[in-house]
Amino acid sequence: MACVMDGNGRWAQRRSLPRTDGHRAAETTVIDIIEAARGAGVRWLTLYAFSTENWNRPDPEVEFLMGLVRRVVRKHAPLLPARGIRCRFLGAGDPRIPRELARDLDDLTTLTADNRGMTLTVAFDHGGRRDIVEAARSLILSGTPADEVTERLFAEHLPFPDTPDVDLVIRTSGEQRISNFMLWQVAYAEWVFPEVLWPDFRASDFIACLHTYRRRDRRFGGVPPRTNGERP
Ligand code: IPE
Ligand code: IPE
Ligand code: MG
Repeated sequence: MACVMDGNGRWAQRRSLPRTDGHRAAETTVIDIIEAARGAGVRWLTLYAFSTENWNRPDPEVEFLMGLVRRVVRKHAPLLPARGIRCRFLGAGDPRIPRELARDLDDLTTLTADNRGMTLTVAFDHGGRRDIVEAARSLILSGTPADEVTERLFAEHLPFPDTPDVDLVIRTSGEQRISNFMLWQVAYAEWVFPEVLWPDFRASDFIACLHTYRRRDRRFGGVPPRTNGERP
């Protein structure tokens, strides 16, 4: 499952604070939700932290976010092994990412590579379209003949091909759009759009979203299961 962590800026603006205070306040939610997901038995959690489009934000905000991610990674890295969390970063290829931060992300990936409890993927400098274009490039470079290209083979050229398709995406703050998030992998995801802003999102809200998901009738293009006595 995945979270599009949205609404930090509005959280701050409603308090007449600078937008960056909203990002700072998001840290608590991130840690709470990782724990809530682990407690609920979620094996694959992806958090959308920074999109390829977020580079269009004012430089001071982008710089703040880079610094914040570094502080959060350094502060919480030592806690991950004991919790059995494998952490990795989806994206993170842009040369504008400060070198020290890129190194910390690599170090955390290496440090937690053998953990098997939960895989936490942080989508950082991520764009769904970019991933698809890079998969196409990789497929062409592999010399695969066009008539051998299948959905399954294509998916193997996406980053982290072991990650299962996303079943549930939670996007906070009431915004109802994809914003270029894992376009291939969300093809049949269920979406939940709680109104609450990300810094106010708590474990109880997260559990409520899981309940909403459980009540959904997932059909995958089929028809609902037959009720007793009903003719096809
Ligand atoms: C999400 O909060 C965090 C990032 C995109 C990095 P926003 O910063 O988008 O908050 P709003 O949508 O402006 O309220
Ligand atoms: C999407 O949120 C990216 C993240 C939450 C990291 P945005 O706030 O950047 O998306 P838009 O601009 O509203 O589509
Ligand atoms: Mg936003």
